[in-house]
Amino acid sequence: MRLLRVVLCGCLCPCLLLSIVAAQNTTPPAWANNPQIETKIDALLKQMTLDEKVGQLIAYSQGAPTGPGTGRTGYKEMVAKGRLGSIFNLTGADETNAMQKIAVEQSRLHIPLLFGLDIIHGFRTEFPVPLALSATWDPPLIEQTARVAAKEASHAGIRWTYSPMVDIARDARWGRIVESGGEDPYLGSAIAAAYVRGYQGEKLGGPESIAACTKHFVGYGAAEGGRDYNSAEIPDRLLRQVYLPPFQATVEAGTASFMSAFEALNGVPATANAFTLTQILKKEWAFKGFVASDWNSIGELIPQGVAKDHAVAAAKAFLAGVDMDVESNAYGPHLAALVKAGTVPESMIDDSVRRVLRIKVALGLFDHPFADGIGSNGMAPQDAVLARKAAEESFVLLKNDGGLLPLKATGKTIALIGPLADDAYQMLGAWAAKSDAKDVITLRSALTKQVEATQGHVIYVKGADILTTSDKGFTEAVGAARKSDAVVLALGEDAGLMTGEASSRAHLDLPGNQQQLLEAVMATGKPVVLLVFSGRPLVLDWADQHVPAIMEVWFPGVQAGPAIANVVLGNSSPSGRLTVSFPRAVGQEPLYYNHYNTGRPAGDTDLSHPPRYFGEKFLSRYVDEQNSPLYPFGHGLTYGTVAYSPTSASTNSISATDLNAGTAKLTVTAEVKNTGGRWADEVVQLYIRQRDTSVVRPVRELKGFRRVHLEPGASQKVGFTLGREELKFWNIDMKDVVEPAALTVWVAPNSSSGNPANVTIGQ
Ligand code: BGC
Repeated sequence: MRLLRVVLCGCLCPCLLLSIVAAQNTTPPAWANNPQIETKIDALLKQMTLDEKVGQLIAYSQGAPTGPGTGRTGYKEMVAKGRLGSIFNLTGADETNAMQKIAVEQSRLHIPLLFGLDIIHGFRTEFPVPLALSATWDPPLIEQTARVAAKEASHAGIRWTYSPMVDIARDARWGRIVESGGEDPYLGSAIAAAYVRGYQGEKLGGPESIAACTKHFVGYGAAEGGRDYNSAEIPDRLLRQVYLPPFQATVEAGTASFMSAFEALNGVPATANAFTLTQILKKEWAFKGFVASDWNSIGELIPQGVAKDHAVAAAKAFLAGVDMDVESNAYGPHLAALVKAGTVPESMIDDSVRRVLRIKVALGLFDHPFADGIGSNGMAPQDAVLARKAAEESFVLLKNDGGLLPLKATGKTIALIGPLADDAYQMLGAWAAKSDAKDVITLRSALTKQVEATQGHVIYVKGADILTTSDKGFTEAVGAARKSDAVVLALGEDAGLMTGEASSRAHLDLPGNQQQLLEAVMATGKPVVLLVFSGRPLVLDWADQHVPAIMEVWFPGVQAGPAIANVVLGNSSPSGRLTVSFPRAVGQEPLYYNHYNTGRPAGDTDLSHPPRYFGEKFLSRYVDEQNSPLYPFGHGLTYGTVAYSPTSASTNSISATDLNAGTAKLTVTAEVKNTGGRWADEVVQLYIRQRDTSVVRPVRELKGFRRVHLEPGASQKVGFTLGREELKFWNIDMKDVVEPAALTVWVAPNSSSGNPANVTIGQ
């Protein structure tokens, strides 16, 4: 998938300032077709015994279980015998070097080990969680964060990360939504490719490059009921249009490896799914890297009911296209026997080994197997600066009545209340790799420093734990609020318990008794700013009705405190935008903006009375809740006030034949103006809708975006080009083409507003 060309014009010179291309790399990565690499592998394959080949197709974990372990020990002997090719969760230059020494000195063919780790949003320097990073709508920034992670990890010997997770996540109940790039395939693809570029650098063989692992292939985020590991049913058209594009974007960006998912997809486990792993990934997309299973996902074919034992599971996963067994202990004991029995052809084993060795050679591991340990003492100062910038860009100002934010704190007393205000550990979020809570600057510390610098004063009271039924701290919290000019409340989820893997929730409200704490503080009548720390959209209906200012800050990483204080006090303007829809009620989930229309669209209905029989009842709606989200995809306020002109299109009719041939394109433009008194970073978004088509199309689809900096009074024309890539879809004949259609386009600040323009796509 190609990403849209963005045309940005200064308003005084409409045609001069042209053009950035977000990501257009569709040529295969250098390592995919390198004759030198293949010759080296040919020579190795000739010398390898079957057992040594199987050894390259196994990864075991040294500790840190996220599922049942293999119960294996004795990795050193396995490595010395060439029976184990990859180890993960072993960290530190000394530790990896010691194990690597065994591989390259004691094993017969001296093939180096590949060390892996879940480096999800930072290695040592912990950046905001991935969902927060996606809210920056800033792929180049995300690429930089991944580059820092790669630099830090590679010096410690880790050359393989189990990231990016590019699962489309439409259901806020699913705990792993925090690891995702949100609900949209277009933005998700741009973000997915950015991670890969960041991890892998200019060249996979660079000393600070690490191999990416795109996961979880595929459909894991569509788990029924939002319950982790649960089955998913995704029809082919939806799979092709929504779930596959971010995966394909990483193949085009050159990702070195893939991880198969846990769930049963349309009744066939994703780890034994030949259609997705072999037909789509290896054949249609010509992916030349290797596919690893997820943790014990081959073993889980047994409880899923498609394998009676590990031997059958190994055969099914391998024949479907899983090259490497991660922690199932199925390939090790069974693959060689399956070859000898004729169940698995040795030519397939050779292909899988070739894929693994291709990445080991491309990484330069044969020439430089050892880590130098540089930088193992901590974070570099410039990386902390990047972490702060990323956090500031990720905060989403959901609501700001009366311009309460930024807070006027000079000479004032501010009450800082809540369990997340001074909890360093929570700021690191789920999957915190080798980060250290000691590096975190909390909000309490940063806000106190900044407010005191302007002769103000901060009173801090915890008020409640994240998860508690006790209201013991309420009196002190309310007392502090009463003594203050304004209150900042830091409330939200427990990062470890409630976000990430195996952390699905059926309730999406503030946990414990934090809602009661919020209500008690609101009852003081003081101006309240609510900061929400969470790894998913929460139901903030009550807060939206009662609290004047609400900002989503996610789990912001090591620079949480300075970043939040900067934005709250106005040294920086909030510029994040939601990449997931925030519901009014859990019952709306799964909730996403790019849904189809129904034959009985309802829009938002009047809930002040039961639906009247005619005109109100027999519609696609709830009788007790609006259809719309509380805060839509793309939403986010700034401290500026940005006005959008109507959208204009370069033509009002265009030919589908020409679009399909790539000889016609359409430019869509709007002018954005900062009519407020403060600077703003606006994320300008392009949406389309197609009607009169052979299949139903979403009510809106994102097809472009651009961050624009606007000083007070400044304006810019922002233009987007739409061509075949943006307008094609999988039609009634399952052909990926542009069809004649009535096209509506919006250049808009979010997915539920904007002034449209109409274009006819003719024959
Ligand atoms: C997760 C993967 C992760 C793996 C290795 C599994 O439980 O699903 O995302 O990469 O563990 O830690």
